[in-house]
Amino acid sequence: MKVTVVGAGNVGASCAEYIAIKSIASEVVLLDIKEGFAEGKALDLMQTATNLGFDSIIKGVTNDYAATAASDVVVITSGVPRKPGMTREELIGINAGIVQSVAESILKHSPNAIIVVVSNPMDTMTYLALKATGLPKNQVIGMGGALDSSRFKTYLSLALDKPANDIQGMVIGGHGDTTMIPLTRLASYNGTPVSQHLSPEALDKVSAATMVGGATLTKLLGTSAWYAPGASVSYLVDSIVNDLSRMIPCSVFLDGDYGQKDICIGVPCIIGKNGLESIIDVKLNDQEQEKFTQSSAAVRNMNEALKEIL
Ligand code: LAC
Repeated sequence: MKVTVVGAGNVGASCAEYIAIKSIASEVVLLDIKEGFAEGKALDLMQTATNLGFDSIIKGVTNDYAATAASDVVVITSGVPRKPGMTREELIGINAGIVQSVAESILKHSPNAIIVVVSNPMDTMTYLALKATGLPKNQVIGMGGALDSSRFKTYLSLALDKPANDIQGMVIGGHGDTTMIPLTRLASYNGTPVSQHLSPEALDKVSAATMVGGATLTKLLGTSAWYAPGASVSYLVDSIVNDLSRMIPCSVFLDGDYGQKDICIGVPCIIGKNGLESIIDVKLNDQEQEKFTQSSAAVRNMNEALKEIL
């Protein structure tokens, strides 16, 4: 299996690292526009192989899309990350042109690849990649929900003081500080509703911390996060290349699902070798559905900015 990661910045390099460490793909191509940058990161990562026990080949290239040919999965991390105080949405002007040209270049060399979009604002960039390539909806997947759900489960485990891997939960809706929807009603601690263990106030705190999870890190680090985004991508890519059929909330094109059309936004998806295999209807209650409708309106509003380039 061959996975290309476009963008060798912090997030892209972490994606490549985890994909190699977990032996998810035998070949990883890291591509960047900055001369020598991806080559350097790839060499550094390759030199971890004997200590970390993997045999994947990681190859770095500068803007050479021919080297990405026949990839099974292509991850797009290109663009600028947010700085403290910025929203993901403020990046649209710079990142739209970048993501569009990357998506078109990928299409030329790997028309059958599943494209995973990480660049922000992620839901809008996923919609852009889908429209710019004209690929079927199963082939273009936005990563946000996988990351937001991992943050949700982390905060739940901290509030419960229980192991993170004993927690199940999902975040749907947009990948934005005000648009994401942690589904607290459906979250569980080893199959028991978390509401049995945490007060409504404690659950509200967990939701609030989850929603600004990325912003909190950006404030601390001075730039956007990379370990959790990289790990979330590797989890998603694993489900694609190994056809695991994991249920992962991802930003995908909706055609009537959850009452929405012509939009990419986070919903629970079955992810397998064809990328999006199906969308799961988790039967939201009225309050959750109302939040989803509002979140969709905000994402749709953002997509308006694409009118000039699509
Ligand atoms: C974050 C970025 C990757 O949430 O969107 O950390």
